[in-house]
Amino acid sequence: MNLTTSYLGLELKNPIIVGSSGLTGTLDGIVSLEKHGAGAVVMKSIFEEEILLEVKEQVKEAEKNPMIYSGLSETLDYIDLHIREDNLGKFLQLIRDAKKAVSIPIIGSINCISNEDWTHFTKRMEEAGADALELNIFLNPADFKNKEFEKAYFRIIEKVLATVKIPVAIKISKYFTRLGLSVKALSETGVSGLVMFNRFYSPDIDIEKMVLSTPQMFSTREEQKETLRWIAIMSERVNCDLAASTGIHTGEDVIKMLLAGATAIQVVSTLYINGPEQINKMLTKLNHWMSDKGFDSVDQFRGKISRKYGADPAAFERMQFMKHFSEIR
Ligand SMILES: Cc1cc2nc3c(=O)[nH]c(=O)nc-3n(C[C@H](O)[C@H](O)[C@H](O)COP(=O)(O)O)c2cc1C
Repeated sequence: MNLTTSYLGLELKNPIIVGSSGLTGTLDGIVSLEKHGAGAVVMKSIFEEEILLEVKEQVKEAEKNPMIYSGLSETLDYIDLHIREDNLGKFLQLIRDAKKAVSIPIIGSINCISNEDWTHFTKRMEEAGADALELNIFLNPADFKNKEFEKAYFRIIEKVLATVKIPVAIKISKYFTRLGLSVKALSETGVSGLVMFNRFYSPDIDIEKMVLSTPQMFSTREEQKETLRWIAIMSERVNCDLAASTGIHTGEDVIKMLLAGATAIQVVSTLYINGPEQINKMLTKLNHWMSDKGFDSVDQFRGKISRKYGADPAAFERMQFMKHFSEIR
């Protein structure tokens, strides 16, 4: 079967990408994921705050008079700086090492919240050999102070696209006003892909102790419903690739996302739960299904179902609602 997929202009041997997580945070992890069939990996994110701290510390260092460099707090600052630099250095080294060790694309990842002075670091990731970048623009809809929520996405994109030549994807949440229009507008900024969707920290309540209880670290298959719906609605309307993310655990889920029009599929929780062998199982299911249905390439059926949404998805959904729910008494 021909499972090859073009995502962000990169040639992938199959559409399954391991999403940003601890699984992609070490060289051994990345090598093992390639061995188990991953089409590409998104590296564990570096945080905007880590990069900004380095910039601030460098300025502070330059302004310091070495003659008076003696206070304890400054010594601690220095130690902190050293640790942070080491972090950024290690991050770039992992890109270099991974590029030597595996042949699948390596997508660098930054978790960011503003367009402050961290964007230069994307250039260093490009120079280290990253094939593409994924920016997880992690604006929290529960942030009541941030009045410019959606504008920040466009500002960040503009700055990063002016800094690097490698393709850039944006990982977004579903918390936008008028999600459809926002996704369309983001796809027209020059980014090569959108990853839909990010998963937020969602605590539960323990009614016996009456306290917040620890949220589930890993997603469940139930959570894929919104991703499936929005991939189907948007795949014919955007100017870039769409990677489906959240709640995709099995080969069946992968097939559904492709039928809805996803260019690629990102998986994380299922690999924590079932081990990296799950990638192979998903690919086997995809191969068998394609053979049963008489398809020999992914492109032959990608988006087959999204077209059912037609020219007016809102009218389609309203019709379905009226048809299915109005008769229930
Ligand atoms: C342990 C763990 C670490 C993660 N670290 C990152 C990260 O560094 N950057 C990021 O963008 N997403 C991170 N994520 C989120 C995943 O990339 C993904 O968006 C989310 O888990 C939903 O996909 P899933 O349902 O396949 O797990 C992490 C998820 C897990 C479970």
